[in-house]
Amino acid sequence: MGELTRLREFLNELIPSEDQFQRLYQNFCAQIRKGLGAKTNKDADTKCYLTYVQDFPHGNETGKYLALDLGGSRFRVLLVTLKGDRDAELVAKIYDLTEKELLGTGTQLFDYIAKCLHEFVCEQKVEGEHMALGFTFSFPCVQTGLSRATLVRWTKGFNCSDTVGEDVGVMLKSAITRRSGLKIDMVAILNDTTGTQMSCAHRNPACNIGLIVGTGCNACYTEKVENCERLDSKYKDRPKIIINVEWGAFGEKGGLDHLLTDYDKIVDKNSLNAGTQIYEKMVAGMYMGELVRLILLRAVNENLIFAQCKLRKQITDILTKKPNCIETKVLSDIANDKGDDWPLVKDVFKDIFHLHDADPDDCMKFKYICDVVAKRAGNMLGVTLGALVNKVGESFSIIGVDGTVYRCHPNFDGYMRETLDRFVEKDRKYDIMLSEDGSGRGAALVAAVVHREYIERKSLNTRLHT
Ligand code: BGC
Repeated sequence: MGELTRLREFLNELIPSEDQFQRLYQNFCAQIRKGLGAKTNKDADTKCYLTYVQDFPHGNETGKYLALDLGGSRFRVLLVTLKGDRDAELVAKIYDLTEKELLGTGTQLFDYIAKCLHEFVCEQKVEGEHMALGFTFSFPCVQTGLSRATLVRWTKGFNCSDTVGEDVGVMLKSAITRRSGLKIDMVAILNDTTGTQMSCAHRNPACNIGLIVGTGCNACYTEKVENCERLDSKYKDRPKIIINVEWGAFGEKGGLDHLLTDYDKIVDKNSLNAGTQIYEKMVAGMYMGELVRLILLRAVNENLIFAQCKLRKQITDILTKKPNCIETKVLSDIANDKGDDWPLVKDVFKDIFHLHDADPDDCMKFKYICDVVAKRAGNMLGVTLGALVNKVGESFSIIGVDGTVYRCHPNFDGYMRETLDRFVEKDRKYDIMLSEDGSGRGAALVAAVVHREYIERKSLNTRLHT
């Protein structure tokens, strides 16, 4: 048997069959049903959190709003000027997060956020203005209203103490109050998927699904209020609400067992949050590079790659001793390598393994491994997105997307569409829209919509009482 054929066979478990995709679809739909049900929610791994976002942008919103975006590897503060014609102007500043913030106490994290916010408003010369702020906080939270959100668990690289079970809105407000001089009113907390959906809906109202494929992975969608058993009747005067699926947690109760490989299990075991976020660990940026490292290590040991390479021992050592030595960015970078002398793969080999004269066959095999991991992720996401398009039930749905994996990997969109095309019901159509400026604009829009609604209710009350 040829070497490439042996490698293909070795990777076969990472290439799901049609039957496995079907089971993924069925299991996922069952979890969504459980998540929405009042009695079944406690057993669901996709909790389908109510976001309380029920008003959608009209496109004519105006004014200046602040937004915070916390959830990925970096933290952003934004000043968003909505211009009233489906357009917005943004000034954003990125702040690095160190281990002190990611793994310290919650108070440390929120004090740091308030400090950055203070610096930013001073730099933008808006410190004297009374402004509304939308807070994109991209972790699972139980919300009881737009500005109340209790953290359920940390995900990705975050693990701050004294925060789980706390209202992050209260924590942010207290931190803002501790810094004197800030006249900021935090009016809404939202997930980055919701921010992305709102941001895309601002451009095109047909957007009814939001997706993030970045450091973490998650989706949200617009649901009819009558399908939300857990929603209090006082919120049922409006027809729809955005549901934050939190699908990263899918698989915690076995729904993905038929797709899990040893590599997935090791990634989970070595993570900060073992036993949780199983789907996320198969498809998100924080983990795909690590999957490639584990697969590569086993492939080298089985003489399927680098078999003749003189640095074979050194490569094995690096792969064994350096977890996370392959970043997910590598998957995107080398996907652009057309195989003509393999310049991009060779750069990666130089960087990681100090290998300067790579064999073209090894380059091809490495690219193949990376493609298999990315394709599995994109294809799986297409299946669960298909389930959401069908659940929304409109004849046309736009999926608003953001996140580094989707943005940077040249084939990711195509991988998602491959399975979306197979799973979206025949009488429905879909399209995918890249969110132009991320969930920051979405957060400002939610703030604006809350503000609009407040003004409308106030004027209605005045009319009723005069
Ligand atoms: C979080 C989600 C978030 C996603 C993308 C996941 O780890 O649980 O709330 O939307 O990452 O940032």
